[in-house]
Amino acid sequence: MSAVAEQARLLADRINALEESSTLAMTKKARELAAQGHQVISLSVGEPDFKTPAHICEAAKKAIDDGFHGYSPVAGYPDLRKAIADKLKRDNNIDWKPENIVVSTGAKHSLANAIQVLVNPGDEVIIFAPYWVSYSEMVKLAEGKSVILEGAFENDFKVTAEQLEAAITPRTKVVMYASPNNPTGSVYTEAELRAVAEVLEKHENIYVLADEIYEYINFTEEGHFSIGSIPALKERVITVNGVAKGYAMTGWRIGFIAAAKWIADGVEKLQGQVTSGTNSIAQKAAVAAFNGPLDATREMSKAYARRRDLVVGLLKEIPGFKVNVPQGAFYAFPDVSYYFGKSDGKTNINDSDDFSLWLLNTAFVSTVAGSGFGAPNCIRISTAAADEALTEAVQRIKTAVATLH
Ligand SMILES: Cc1ncc(COP(=O)(O)O)c(C=O)c1O
Repeated sequence: MSAVAEQARLLADRINALEESSTLAMTKKARELAAQGHQVISLSVGEPDFKTPAHICEAAKKAIDDGFHGYSPVAGYPDLRKAIADKLKRDNNIDWKPENIVVSTGAKHSLANAIQVLVNPGDEVIIFAPYWVSYSEMVKLAEGKSVILEGAFENDFKVTAEQLEAAITPRTKVVMYASPNNPTGSVYTEAELRAVAEVLEKHENIYVLADEIYEYINFTEEGHFSIGSIPALKERVITVNGVAKGYAMTGWRIGFIAAAKWIADGVEKLQGQVTSGTNSIAQKAAVAAFNGPLDATREMSKAYARRRDLVVGLLKEIPGFKVNVPQGAFYAFPDVSYYFGKSDGKTNINDSDDFSLWLLNTAFVSTVAGSGFGAPNCIRISTAAADEALTEAVQRIKTAVATLH
């Protein structure tokens, strides 16, 4: 064991029990190969390839000039909480006051906060799979128990109300899901979420953590539906959203929860001891985002839809790949299990981890194995890249898999 690994054993058990983020690990490997001079096409990161719209950047510059340099209130500036409350009414049919909103350092932070304030050791958190890599690790940090429900490929990777009902136990505390979903791009319809809500109406001690960070990247006719808009469930839904994906603001780190006052107060209390209010300049930029026009957001969404069509079309031509048609977000999530048990003569492919790593090493295309998302038959391919890069990447994948027998 290396000295560093030896020392790592001195870390607290809660850290040693955590998995490393698989998306960040693949991105790191891709960077290393690129640094060695390989022409790597990196499709592992979940990040828009657009710039933040100009009016939002201007608001940030103005905040600096106007002297917003000090600590902000723990739960966020009042004008930002008001802008978020207005946005929730306008877009989501959710009626909360600013006091129900807590702003944090990205939706990731908001999700982690919500889990910390609601989950006791041993509480069960039902997670709809495929799920975003960090969910189960956040639950682990709170000493909760993840109960994973798998959405079938045949049901566009979506979990049904019947599956949920069957998984509920007296220890169930939280149900969490993302729609639109990362990694599958699946979108839960209003009817599907109403069916979920009907099940939960019968269980008044269960809370819903609704991750809506991809809200604006939705290609369906019906559009986005927020479970928090259902009156019978309103007090028990924690709606999580932010600016990262819809406004191309991943680096600005602004997310929020909207929830019943006692939950918001709990998050504020936690945040008051751990991080304080988030970055003041980014908050002012977020005010401009939430109060401003959505033209740039809609343009970006159109581009993602076009790329979805491009990539899905090309992936479907690869023998053995099973491909769903994502309804939102910016990922493709093909089932590649046809190739498990095959080899190119040098490397045996036994699972999605092997497949993804082999693809990176042989075709220099970085993807992420589905295993970290609770879907071990799939790989995730980000479609947030230029058309030429996407076309070239899928061509490389096609050429590579032709060598597997
Ligand atoms: C499903 C999902 N939720 C939350 C987040 C975190 O968003 P933020 O960048 O605002 O922390 C991500 C980011 O990749 C995501 O994919």
